[in-house]
Amino acid sequence: MKIVVNDQVHLSEVRSSDKPALVEQLNDKEIYDRTLRIPYPYTDTNAEEWLAVVAKTTQQQGRPVHWAIRNAEDHLIGACGFNDFQMGKSHRAEIGYLLAKPYWNQGIMTAVVQMACQYAFEEFGLVKITAQVRSENMASARVLEKCGFEQEGYFRKHFPKDGKFIDVRLFALLKGD
Ligand SMILES: CC(C)(COP(=O)(O)OP(=O)(O)OC[C@H]1O[C@@H](n2cnc3c(N)ncnc32)[C@H](O)[C@@H]1OP(=O)(O)O)[C@@H](O)C(=O)NCCC(=O)NCCS
Repeated sequence: MKIVVNDQVHLSEVRSSDKPALVEQLNDKEIYDRTLRIPYPYTDTNAEEWLAVVAKTTQQQGRPVHWAIRNAEDHLIGACGFNDFQMGKSHRAEIGYLLAKPYWNQGIMTAVVQMACQYAFEEFGLVKITAQVRSENMASARVLEKCGFEQEGYFRKHFPKDGKFIDVRLFALLKGD
């Protein structure tokens, strides 16, 4: 499967052969600092565990709900996907995404999130898509705003990280907005 985003990038299923690229791209303290659940250092084992989760979720949902973001050369440069929902039953899901650092600030994730949300509204029967963002992650919040998301909540000391409890902003996009 292939979802064309633009001339630069497309989405495809995550493959077990993506493991080395995942480790290379995600083993980055700057990604760790901006996200809630990505480990650092990011090891082979972390990549294997995530690939297993993706495979299991694909089986449970009957189709991929996590994708590799690939460039024109078909190299993995990031990932995005939907969590916390059940295909055909849930009206709401949570989007997650990340991009390797060399590709930041080129408009890539804005185009990816727009396409992924459109696809999920049409194909997964969703009515609402949420996103949780660390309060300091201005780039991620900006991506969501550019895609039409609105902030619905600010949760103080909501998520444990590095021995602290950090603040999280909840954004949401409604179908048809
Ligand atoms: C957040 C992330 C996905 C953004 O992807 P991207 O492809 O660089 O995003 P885009 O280029 O489409 O848009 C980024 C926007 O944020 C802005 N931005 C970047 N850094 C910023 C900062 N420190 N403060 C405010 N705005 C910032 C850019 O200027 C741009 O907005 P503009 O188009 O209005 O100028 C990417 O940086 C990333 O993967 N980061 C690490 C993982 C992560 O944060 N994942 C999301 C977890 S919720």
